[in-house]
Amino acid sequence: MAEYTIKVRRYQPDAPEESDVPRGAYWEQFDVDLDPTLSVLDGLLQARDKDDGSLAVRCSCRAAICGSCGVKINGQSTLACLTQIGEAHERANRMNAAGELAGGATDDEDLQAPHGNGASAPIVIEPMGNMPVIKDLVVDMESTHWEKMRRVTPWLLDDGDPPERERIVEPESMVDITQTIACIQCGACVSSCLSMEADPDFIGPAALAKAYRFVGDPRDVETKERLYDLAQDPHGIYDCTHCFSCVDACPKGVAPMDQIMRLRRAAGEEGIKDRNNGHSHEMAFVKNIRKKGTLDESELLQESYAPGVMGKLKPSKGGIVGLIQSLPTAVRGIKTGKMRSLPKLIPGIHPKLPGDAQDHVKRIYERAEESNQQINLYIIGEEEVLDDAESTAMPDDPQDTTGEGDDRFGGGAGSLPRTDLVGGGKPGTQASDGVPTDRSDPDETIVPTDEESR
Ligand code: SF4
Ligand code: SF4
Ligand code: FES
Repeated sequence: MAEYTIKVRRYQPDAPEESDVPRGAYWEQFDVDLDPTLSVLDGLLQARDKDDGSLAVRCSCRAAICGSCGVKINGQSTLACLTQIGEAHERANRMNAAGELAGGATDDEDLQAPHGNGASAPIVIEPMGNMPVIKDLVVDMESTHWEKMRRVTPWLLDDGDPPERERIVEPESMVDITQTIACIQCGACVSSCLSMEADPDFIGPAALAKAYRFVGDPRDVETKERLYDLAQDPHGIYDCTHCFSCVDACPKGVAPMDQIMRLRRAAGEEGIKDRNNGHSHEMAFVKNIRKKGTLDESELLQESYAPGVMGKLKPSKGGIVGLIQSLPTAVRGIKTGKMRSLPKLIPGIHPKLPGDAQDHVKRIYERAEESNQQINLYIIGEEEVLDDAESTAMPDDPQDTTGEGDDRFGGGAGSLPRTDLVGGGKPGTQASDGVPTDRSDPDETIVPTDEESR
């Protein structure tokens, strides 16, 4: 057993007027005594049982299955039941030693973390972000999570003609969407989404990951309509800024950002030219880096709205409007110093990389195009060849393409299908796209066929 201090962001709107409970949000600390391997949720429940029965926290399964206990711990959105209290304490100490304030600031000196190396910092627990707080750690998920989930029509749209028996689907075709099926609707990704903070109408990571679940399902007959809808919406797939925050936050390895990128790619493959210029912007970005190696921002802007303007003038009406609408951003860039140098103001004069570095960049493109790989942002489904020992430990289910058995729908991130981060990822670790890898041979390179790469 060890003693920990948890610092909880509280809000008690129903507290009686005559009580000394503050009217707005406030911090309160609790001391708890727990084995370090127990969870932060266990700490909260102990504080509620021992010190204050009014402390509100939502939970049910206590096993990372129901998705109820989403909170922010030391500033990171996650599940309270999936975070060991010992690890959370170590992280709080590391943040404190680095001079970072874990969680929100407070004017109350008694509640501030002690500073300096070796000091024992409290574990800071706050309600999830981007959602209105109902009471203490309980948030209202309706407007920012459930409403957006309904927005993407989260059910299968078939041709209305029921088959005599079930619809037969090749198991391989489902590998592509198994990752999104692992979502437990906890809202941690929504809580951490930076775009949603700037644009509360953004459909958001959880709902867009769910959208890919149906776009990628071969039984759904409205793939193109779904993609068109999500591409045209100004708060849709092109509203994501690739910040990776949702990938870090997701406790089930869904990697919502990857699913959003897959939606974008599918929309591009369908030839959807969205009114947000999102697809043209991506194409301009790809072209720009291929040509220069680093971003030529002024050319990027011009190419996004009026591709080919340097050689053959062909801006669309929408492109001209978009270009004009971007001018205030450019002026802000000049004022703040981000766009003061000539290469940032005049399209095309941004320098290339020195020496043969640019050739290396081009070779990366060629390599990716040859093997149809999507570098870094995408995953591919892989059926792993299991060795004898592993295969005898697995359920003997011919329909199980994951090699993990049925537990994949509720057994934590480690129960997702065997996947490989294209272009990297350490064996046996959580790869940088949030997808667990469990490869026995670290040097083995999986090169997908075109069909597998999708
Ligand atoms: S990657 Fe996109 S969806 Fe995910 S948190 Fe960042 S902005 Fe939001
Ligand atoms: S995608 Fe991940 S973080 Fe987002 S709601 Fe689903 S399980 Fe939670
Ligand atoms: S209590 Fe169910 S996910 Fe944490």
